[in-house]
Amino acid sequence: MAAGLFVTVEGIDGAGKSTHLAALRAWFQQRGHEVVGTREPGGTELAEALRELVLHRSMDPLTEALLVFAARRDHLVQVIEPALARGAVVVCDRFTDASFAYQGGGRGFDAGVLFTLEGWVQQGRQPDLTLWFDLPAAEAARRRAAARAPDRFEAQDVAFFERVIAGYAAREAADRRRFEHIDARAEPAAVWQQVEAALVRRFG
Ligand code: TYD
Repeated sequence: MAAGLFVTVEGIDGAGKSTHLAALRAWFQQRGHEVVGTREPGGTELAEALRELVLHRSMDPLTEALLVFAARRDHLVQVIEPALARGAVVVCDRFTDASFAYQGGGRGFDAGVLFTLEGWVQQGRQPDLTLWFDLPAAEAARRRAAARAPDRFEAQDVAFFERVIAGYAAREAADRRRFEHIDARAEPAAVWQQVEAALVRRFG
């Protein structure tokens, strides 16, 4: 895998993606790859500072979209592109599909602007594989109720997360070869089986 591999993990808050990130990284490590585990918004000092603002300060939708893409630009330049260039596997907890799902779907922000920002910021870079942990919004809300204090997104209602899911579905429909659709309703072990089957199918 000399050219590196860019794997992203997506899903609404409470879908359970965090549960499987360590196993996902380990799967590649066990096959001898350097693995860079990272997240968005975040992944660099500057981008983590922007994350704090996006998750906890109120702001208008364009400001929010610009900040997540500003964070993404720094993350790509400082971490993701150098890692891919040296042949590493980058496993990223959320990426641009989350902007289309949350800012575009959830907030109803203009997708045309998001496509423009995506083009500027990524210069053609896209994940090689995106695992979408798909869980109905009502079930994710039940799971979140047991978790910690919500941020600006986690505090949204079920209708918001239904629009986020629709945003993910539109991204998947536009690029089916990149996506693996994971049914996140199952028990964690059964969810991991789906993830592993997808990895084996693609990377042996
Ligand atoms: P999340 O990845 O769920 O982290 P944690 O597990 O620590 O809660 O939180 C990030 C939040 O940011 C999530 O609610 C989705 C949101 N988000 C956007 O709105 N746009 C984006 O482009 C990204 C990457 C995330």
